[in-house]
Amino acid sequence: MKKTKKVVYTALALMATLALGAGCSPEKPKPVKTVEIADGVIDPAQWGKAWPVEYDMWKKTGEPTPVGKSKYKKGNDGGVTYDKLSEYPFNALLFNGWGFGIEYNEPRGHLYMMKDQADVDPSRVKAGGVCLTCKTPYAPQLEKKMGKDYFSKPYKDVVAELPQEHQDLGVACIDCHDNKDMSLKLSRGFTLSKALKTMGVDEAKLTSQEKRSLVCAQCHVTYTIPKDADMKSVDVFFPWEGSKWGQMPVENIIKQIRSNPAYGEWKQSVTGFKLAFIRHPEFEMYSNNSVHWQAGVSCADCHMPYTKVGSQKASDHRIMSPLKNDMKACQQCHTETPEWLKGQVFAIQDRAASIFIRSGYATAKVAKLFEMTHKAQAEGKTIDQALYDQAKDHYLEAFYRVLFFGAENSVGFHNPTEAMRILGDAALQAGQAEALLRQAMTAAGIAVPAKIDLELSKYTDNRGAKKLMFKPEQELKDPFPVK
Ligand code: HEC
Ligand code: HEC
Ligand code: HEC
Ligand code: HEC
Repeated sequence: MKKTKKVVYTALALMATLALGAGCSPEKPKPVKTVEIADGVIDPAQWGKAWPVEYDMWKKTGEPTPVGKSKYKKGNDGGVTYDKLSEYPFNALLFNGWGFGIEYNEPRGHLYMMKDQADVDPSRVKAGGVCLTCKTPYAPQLEKKMGKDYFSKPYKDVVAELPQEHQDLGVACIDCHDNKDMSLKLSRGFTLSKALKTMGVDEAKLTSQEKRSLVCAQCHVTYTIPKDADMKSVDVFFPWEGSKWGQMPVENIIKQIRSNPAYGEWKQSVTGFKLAFIRHPEFEMYSNNSVHWQAGVSCADCHMPYTKVGSQKASDHRIMSPLKNDMKACQQCHTETPEWLKGQVFAIQDRAASIFIRSGYATAKVAKLFEMTHKAQAEGKTIDQALYDQAKDHYLEAFYRVLFFGAENSVGFHNPTEAMRILGDAALQAGQAEALLRQAMTAAGIAVPAKIDLELSKYTDNRGAKKLMFKPEQELKDPFPVK
């Protein structure tokens, strides 16, 4: 892991476009400490007495973010809630069958995390207390105290274990900091530390730059909730086995989640398949050999830029999209204008969104072909099992890739070339699955129409109380449509 450091300096030395000195190792803010924080204090207001500047910025994650600065991550002005099912209607089809097919919103600021979970459709927290793992700063304590019950008990019952006044408190100082010296500290021993061990990473040897990403990787990662025979949650873990530090390909993650039927968390209604799920894999995508990762850049470099508050220099604890902060983070290292930098982000995102939309619809089409196949089977037709199994295998590979990209929140920016590779494979896998299923059905004497009706409105509109959230004007169109 020492190697990354060297790459930073080499890259900096080579890059005439980068502002040297003000680059990857600007002078760190020097915290001025006034009050001692006792061990075990969770209340951020207490920490705020010692660190008022960071505390005030942290609170600002509860304010609306600017509208009109980001293209794919629309600001949140308190009015419209942008959701991934309205933006990408094929998701509504693919996720139909459980909570994510009913409500799947774009993220908001950190201060909202517990409130948003309390407001979300109850089907989304059916897994139980385990859902609190990347929400409340009390999660490590609860897990220790309650053991297995923490994972499986109903969500509401576990929330009731939290102190009344902190039932809507989200990520707090103690999640990322040591109370003694404010150094960065990982607090999720039962998830992240375990997962790092499976990759052979020695936590004691992590550099502070690495921790500037890993504090985020406590939550911005994918996880799996294994179930017992009664579909009760028994644990939560990161499917990182087989991956290496700096090399966490989607192939390994898919291999892990497909390896055990106990990782099947839900049933996709269109196909009837029991499937696993992938959530916000920001760390996996970013750290998988992206240009910025290789240059030693951390999550905090882009999402917590140094800023001046009065005469004090501090890390911006109002964590949000760098686009909504006028590219100030990028300009710590890049000398180009904010407009140019933003143009680069949009260009990367447009390309990725285009293939995402195409591969998403291609995968949804295969799901509908499976529906037709199953209907024909129910009517007594015999489908060649070998062709069916191959088609299913390709379909799952396509589905999990589309899911991975769509769950990752940067629309490709965190790792542009990797995003294109993943989506290209998704499209290819979906195409193979379609060809095989068509062949199997044709051989069984079933007429398959050239154009498959996805019946999208059936999935977008059939979402109970959430139905009205679907507005066609929110749908993101393919920036490079092809005939
Ligand atoms: C304890 C878990 C946790 C940790 C630690 C965490 N996040 Fe988050 N983050 C979340 C959740 C949950 C949301 C979505 C909140 C919502 O929508 O209510 C979120 C949302 C975000 C957003 C979207 C904000 C917006 O305005 O839309 C960004 C950006 C982000 N996180 C970046 C980071 C970075 C960078 C770090 C590390 C410095 C980090 N997060 C650490 C859980 C976490
Ligand atoms: C080189 C800069 C850079 C690095 C490093 C970086 N990000 Fe981002 N991140 C971005 C940009 C740019 C976007 C897209 C924002 C947009 O479209 O508005 C983004 C988007 C996000 C979002 C979604 C924000 C939203 O408003 O919905 C989250 C969450 C996030 N990043 C978390 C992380 C985490 C966690 C890491 C480290 C594993 C990380 N980022 C590393 C630049 C970066
Ligand atoms: C999601 C993780 C996260 C949370 C939550 C968080 N911080 Fe930080 N904080 C960081 C990171 C990353 C740095 C940069 C540290 C470094 O580079 O050594 C930092 C730096 C600091 C510093 C050093 C001075 C500076 O501004 O760089 C202080 C003081 C601080 N945080 C206070 C707080 C307080 C008070 C809270 C709670 C209100 C808080 N932090 C919540 C991640 C977090
Ligand atoms: C801590 C320093 C640092 C920060 C912050 C940073 N970059 Fe970079 N960026 C680099 C380095 C180093 C490279 C690699 C040198 C190269 O090959 O251009 C790079 C490369 C790039 C590239 C070309 C490679 C690619 O992935 O396509 C783009 C575009 C880019 N950065 C945009 C941004 C944007 C936009 C932001 C802010 C959201 C940002 N960078 C933030 C240091 C940084």
